[in-house]
Order: sequence, then C-alpha cells, then structure tokens
Amino acid sequence: MDQRKGRRLVLFPLPLQGHISPMLQLANILHSQGFTITIIHTSFNSPNPSSHPHLTFHFIQENLSASEASTDDLVAFVSLLNTKCLVPFRDCLAKLLADVEEEPIACLISDAMLPFTQAVADSLKLPRIVLRTGGASSFVVFAAFPLLKERGYFPIQDSKGQEPVVELPPLKIKDLPVINTRDPETLYEIVNGMVDGAKVSSGIIWNTFEDLEESALATLRQQFSIPIFPIGPFHICIPASPSSLLTQDQSCIAWLDKQAPKSVIYVSFGSIAAVSEAEFLEIAWGLANCKLPFLWVVRPGLTRGSDCLEPLPSGFMEMVDGRGHLVKWAPQQEVLAHPAVGAFWTHNGWNSTLESICEGIPMICMPCFTDQKVNARYVSDVWKVGLQLENGLKREEIEKTIRRVMVEKQGEEIRSRIFRLKEKANHSWKQGRSSFESINSLVTHILSLETFTFHTQ
Ligand code: UDX
Repeated sequence: MDQRKGRRLVLFPLPLQGHISPMLQLANILHSQGFTITIIHTSFNSPNPSSHPHLTFHFIQENLSASEASTDDLVAFVSLLNTKCLVPFRDCLAKLLADVEEEPIACLISDAMLPFTQAVADSLKLPRIVLRTGGASSFVVFAAFPLLKERGYFPIQDSKGQEPVVELPPLKIKDLPVINTRDPETLYEIVNGMVDGAKVSSGIIWNTFEDLEESALATLRQQFSIPIFPIGPFHICIPASPSSLLTQDQSCIAWLDKQAPKSVIYVSFGSIAAVSEAEFLEIAWGLANCKLPFLWVVRPGLTRGSDCLEPLPSGFMEMVDGRGHLVKWAPQQEVLAHPAVGAFWTHNGWNSTLESICEGIPMICMPCFTDQKVNARYVSDVWKVGLQLENGLKREEIEKTIRRVMVEKQGEEIRSRIFRLKEKANHSWKQGRSSFESINSLVTHILSLETFTFHTQ
C-alpha cells in the first residue's frame, strides 16, 4: 500500500432525478476546479454519458426486479438500494482503486441517502464526503428524529397537525418530514442512517448558501464535528448541464413567448410526487377558475392509478381556450427564467425551491412528503416568499391563493422579498462571498485528505 495524492474523485448519486441533477452539477463544479471525475451509477435511471463527455461513467448491475424498480414506496426503494448496491458498488470502487494506469482517487463523494457507502469507503481506506442534496433546515429536523421520537411526535397524529413542534420553531407537527410507507420503522432507520453516516464522514457538501440557511448551518456546525461546505446554489455557477431523465418539451417556451410578462402560473410537482384523481381534478378546476394563464406539467405517474390526462374533465382544454398549456415534462430552469412566469405552484422539492429563489419567482406551496414539508414552511413563514395551500386541496382555496400571489398586494410584497433573495443567491458565488469561499475550502480540504491507493509493483 502506498500513499499518493490525486485529483480524481468518484461520485455516486442516489438514482432519482432530484438527486442525480445536483450530483452532476457538483461533478461539473469540481471538474471546473481541475478534478477528474468518475461517476459510478446504477443501471436504474442511468443518465446518458454522451451528454457529459468530460465525465467518466461506470454502471453497476444492482439487479432490481421490475417490481423493486419502483418509487411507489420511496422508503422501501431507498432501503433496497442500500442493500442491493453494496456488492456491485464495492467491487466497482475496489477495481477503480486498483487501477494503476489511472490517477489516484482523492475521495468518494456519495449521496447522504446511501449511507452503506461509508462502510465500503472505510473498508477500502478511502475518505468519503457526503453530498446532501436537500436543504440544511430540513437536515436539522432529520438530525432531531431520535429526540422527536422519544418525545412522542411519531407516528404523527393528524388531529395534532396544527400544533407547534416546540423544539423546532416555526414547524407545526404536520410539517415533520415523514412519508407514507408500508414500513415506518424503516423510515426512521434510513433517516438515522443518513445522519449517522454523515456524522462520521470527512465532510458534508450542501446545495445551499449562507444567506438563505445561516441559522440551520450554524446549528449543524455545532452538532457535527466535521467540516461543512455550503456551496450552492449549484446551478447558477455552471452552464446548464443536461441531467433530465425525461425529455423536456420545448413547446412551452414558444407558448410562454406569447404571454404577457409575469402573467403565467407554472405548475409542477417534481419527479416523484403523486396526487389522487380527486386532487388532480381540484387542481384542474382551481386553475380553470382563476382565469389566469397556466403552464402545467402533467408527468406520467402524477395521478395515482390513471394515465396522464385521462382524469381531466371532458372539454377542459377547450374551456381554458389557449389559456392553459400542458406538457409531460418541462425545461424547468428555462421556464422559471422566462419573463412571462409570475408564480410557481410547487411541491417544494429542494431543487425546485432553489430554482424558484434563483429566478425570483414567488411560490405557491403544496408539499407532499419528507423534506418538502419543511422547505414549504420555510418558504411561507421564514423567508416569506410564498404562500402555502394550508387548508387542503380545494378548488376555491386554490383559486384564492393563486389570486393572492398573482394579483393582490400580498403577492407584490412576496415578489420584492424573493427578488432580494435572488440577488443574495447570485452574490453568493461572487469572489469573496460565502459559496465561492466555501468551494475554495472544499478543494483545499479534498487535497488534504489522507488517502491510500492499492497497487502491486
Ligand atoms: C426529490 C424529492 O421529492 C425532494 O423532496 C427532494 O428535495 C429531492 O428529491 P423531486 O421530487 O424530483 O426531488 O423534486 P426537486 O428536488 O424539485 O427536483 C426536480 C428537478 O426536476 C428540478 O431540478 C427541476 O428543474 C426538474 N424538472 C422538474 C424538470 O426539469 N422538468 C419538469 O417538468 C419538472
């Protein structure tokens, strides 16, 4: 065994859209800092290597059966990945480490939700840095799960949803980041595994910035004895990187070009969230009744148990008469940057939340599960850059909330607050500012890590 320094990094994302995109963005950021990047990826949801010619890809065979390769129960899916990837991932990483033709590997960077990679990295004497693709504020809540469990918050009782979580203001009990699953105990195991795995890693990278989550980052610095690097928002400091798993329908840009400035509500609930048929109809009627133009992403799988547009009332599109445009998947960053867009009705996945902030677009929040609930509370009550649909998904409530954001004075105030936040986000990557400084510290940290390369002579 011999010690050599290398500028080669191995990255391993969780194979879901909201995790692959930030990992590939991070890959590009680190590549621009002079690192050579190797991505290990599952065969499930594999990105197209030809879209990233400057990165090297290795695909592992995790052998998920057709029924296992499903995100219907996200907890079961993530748990299974942590088991099934172990052997093929370890073999692949060991092979890469043993390759003397290649530059030595400085460290592994893997998604926080793949904590099994810590033991693999330890066994190969390779440092592991964690990428947490979600926000710092929600991570503080995940880190508090054992305490919250001990104090009886879990399982959540719907009747107590409006009560405050006194340990974590301004959260209400309904904002705690849980998700429906067949096996709630596995959820706690995954969350605790993610937090504990991060604690013993060589550092955590965050897709966030100091001005947005200063208090949560300070809490994490107190609780964790490892370095943390808030270097976000990732997507503003690198040219757009094609990481979409679905084909983005560009027709919506031509449609947006024909709309008045700030007149359109963009509606998208990310890559996994699903609604019932009844909720889908309330969304449709809420949009129809508000009488404002809308661009709505109706992704395959958005409505549980039915095909894309099947549940729409007959004659719906004729009724909205050119005022509504539906696509299966949009070029979201381009949409949010379009001058015609006036608000984003979102599920508050962390990427969508950051993308909205970076474009200064007020949000209408409809969180569905896990970190989305915390993100939405911060959007509405801490940063005050959006409104939540707090009283259920009813068409009257939807119409009222859209109008408050789009045409009323409250909307103007929200717009000016998010505009200030947008400026701070963009500043964070300027020389001397927090994310810029943090990436410099990260590079220094990576190069200072003690690594061992195995090779025979
Ligand atoms: C998931 C979880 O739901 C979320 O809670 C967690 O924070 C990240 O992982 P997802 O549901 O996909 O993410 O939402 P989000 O984090 O917002 O990521 C979606 C990504 O897909 C965004 O980068 C967005 O720009 C992109 N997107 C979305 C498109 O390119 N087109 C679309 O039509 C919709």
